[in-house]
Amino acid sequence: MQEQEICDWLKAYLDEKRYIHTLGVRDSAVMLADRYGADVDKARLAGLLHDCAKSLSKDNMVCKIREAGYALEHEIFQSEALMHGIAGAVIARQVFGIEDPEILSAVECHTTGKRGMSLLDKIIYLADLIEPNRNYPGVDELRDAAVEDLDKAVLMGLKFGIEHVLVTNRYLHPRTIEAWNDMLKAEKNVGTGNLCCCDKLTNDI
Ligand SMILES: [Fe+2]
Ligand SMILES: [Fe+2]
Repeated sequence: MQEQEICDWLKAYLDEKRYIHTLGVRDSAVMLADRYGADVDKARLAGLLHDCAKSLSKDNMVCKIREAGYALEHEIFQSEALMHGIAGAVIARQVFGIEDPEILSAVECHTTGKRGMSLLDKIIYLADLIEPNRNYPGVDELRDAAVEDLDKAVLMGLKFGIEHVLVTNRYLHPRTIEAWNDMLKAEKNVGTGNLCCCDKLTNDI
């Protein structure tokens, strides 16, 4: 499917604000892919598709995820925001014929992160947070970090997300904790035996 056809589909299914956000994520993903040597076409596609399930109802998302044979972990039911990444990967495959596992992974984990994030996973995770229409305290700092050091920026983004979830008293998905611990371990280049991630997390927040 050509990009224009994908955009037409997205424009029809997403509200205007979400559609504009989607184009912003596409552009930021392309910028980051170019900067860090990732596949620009995959970044463009994953950026465009990352929120393609955002307008579905919770029941509809559950149906699509079940039909596609995904294991619906108990945790996923805690939040539609968490569910739309997985449902998005299902739609990317079913509607747009995407079979590339890197693109599907980046769409799937863009809300939670996960352990062992690929370069494309990190790019889409960050592009979602820094696209030009985003406006929240700290976003400029995160934009600067994103072009300086991708891994540090992902850690910063995860920290923003975790802090926000805790402050608003909402469910924190285990994959986000795993992503944080994994990225922190890589950043500090130490084994788990040398770092108590729980203590670090507690101290940082
Ligand atoms: Fe999203
Ligand atoms: Fe998004």
